[in-house]
Amino acid sequence: MGIAVSPQIHPRVADFIEKPRKMLINGKWINAASGKIFPTYNPATGEVLAQVAEGDREDIEQAVKAARRAFDHGPWRRMTASERGRLIWKLGDLLEANTEEFAYLESLDNGKPLGVAKAADVPLAVDLFRYMAGWATKLEGNTIPLSVPYTPGAKYLAYTLREPVGVVGQIIPWNFPLLMAAWKLGPALATGCTVILKPAEQTPLSALRLGELIVEAGFPDGVVNIVPGYGETAGAALAAHSDVDKIAFTGSTEVGKLIVHAAAGNLKKVSLELGGKSPNVVFKDADLESAIPGAASAIFFNHGQCCCAGSRLYVEKSVFDRVVEGVAEHARKITVGSGLDPETQMGPLVSEEQLNRVCGYLEAGFSEGAKAIIGGRKTGEKGYFVEPTVLINTREDMKVVREEIFGPVVTAMPFEDPEEILTRANDSSYGLAAAVWTRDISKAHRLADGLRAGTVWINCYNIFDAAMPFGGYKQSGWGREMGHDALNLYTQTKAVCTRLS
Ligand code: NAI
Ligand code: MG
Repeated sequence: MGIAVSPQIHPRVADFIEKPRKMLINGKWINAASGKIFPTYNPATGEVLAQVAEGDREDIEQAVKAARRAFDHGPWRRMTASERGRLIWKLGDLLEANTEEFAYLESLDNGKPLGVAKAADVPLAVDLFRYMAGWATKLEGNTIPLSVPYTPGAKYLAYTLREPVGVVGQIIPWNFPLLMAAWKLGPALATGCTVILKPAEQTPLSALRLGELIVEAGFPDGVVNIVPGYGETAGAALAAHSDVDKIAFTGSTEVGKLIVHAAAGNLKKVSLELGGKSPNVVFKDADLESAIPGAASAIFFNHGQCCCAGSRLYVEKSVFDRVVEGVAEHARKITVGSGLDPETQMGPLVSEEQLNRVCGYLEAGFSEGAKAIIGGRKTGEKGYFVEPTVLINTREDMKVVREEIFGPVVTAMPFEDPEEILTRANDSSYGLAAAVWTRDISKAHRLADGLRAGTVWINCYNIFDAAMPFGGYKQSGWGREMGHDALNLYTQTKAVCTRLS
């Protein structure tokens, strides 16, 4: 087994990955019940990076018991909202204080450039915790005037309580391992739920390190349990568990549908953040100086491994060649390499499986007549690298235009008029995000109104904020994360009705 420790590795990260990492159940770090461990790989080299306890049904069972106990009987529910908020705030502070270490860990495990993890992933996670910490004290119900027709003259006091939904299973993907953990944990903790978090098998390390900060912050035992393991075993056991009140899932649409089936047993609540095939529309009246780099980063950010990646680039015909050549020029200049190399602008894809999936899509595209004006191939002697790719000669009936590729591959297509573009942009089973580039504000907002997507960016792309809800129309998901919308997924409303006279 080659442990891929490069000379410049952060010393605390080197310590962290040296021994097999355990799972967090009921405030204790323990081995899997089976004693099994599994490897996580460094995608820049393909070598084993660390070993991790492999959670399965029995571990999920113990974690659910701990979360149930913590919810029903623990100090967590007796804490004031302010105390809960302060714990979450403290977690944000601890994370911020360890930004450098988390960025290293994320870069090693996922492949993303260290600078990106430091500038985006970690600070966004910190901010999410702070935003959600503030909500703990603001989860209010209403008082409701009643007019019950069959009790004439009676008076009532009716009000609503917003109560935590209970024990929550959270299954997250590998593209933003720490940030996805924060998006999930933040609202669950703010509302007073307890959690079993299952990180993706490709990238379990930052969530496990976050678990150490959760313990350090002083969350009561069992409030957050972290069980690494595979989807088909640990994930499926969590989704099907009859004592879990809610599942929150981010990942593929295919697995999202399995989660819905698994949840049917006890009709647990389900929220889903699934894939996308987001249209990015550039009009000829756009400021092309910003639209061109914007369209490039819409697809190449995080190596295209973004559920909201701008993977269908539609450009008004008269500026098509200029925009597409501009995006290709950006692609040409991207330095591809290991995430830890300071020169690197694009790292490897997360896994061999993902590499094969993306290359499979490229082959399918070429066989259907698509042409790469830049990129189009795997690159590098080791690791899971793919060239940033711009495809032209594509049509809406092609696999590369219909399906989520989840790699640095954009399909560029010209359009003639604004009426036509709305229909084409909406012609997808997905509806996660969309963008419009134009100087005409009426046109921009007309498009924003007509686009069937959970987020519409105007003259920008990939702008995220803890306060702005994110989630999908159509098969891109159920529910919204971030913003106050996210709190709805973790609370349920109780109506209390008192007869006064
Ligand atoms: P996936 O959907 O299989 O994995 C996501 C999470 O679900 C992981 O934690 C995994 O362990 C878990 N999981 C897998 N099977 C499960 C099951 N039967 N029951 C419960 N949990 C299960 O995604 P995968 O295979 O890593 O990537 C496949 C494709 O999914 C990508 O190419 C991309 O198109 C899409 N994807 C979308 C993401 C998003 O942010 N919406 C993130 C990751 C992948
Ligand atoms: Mg899968």
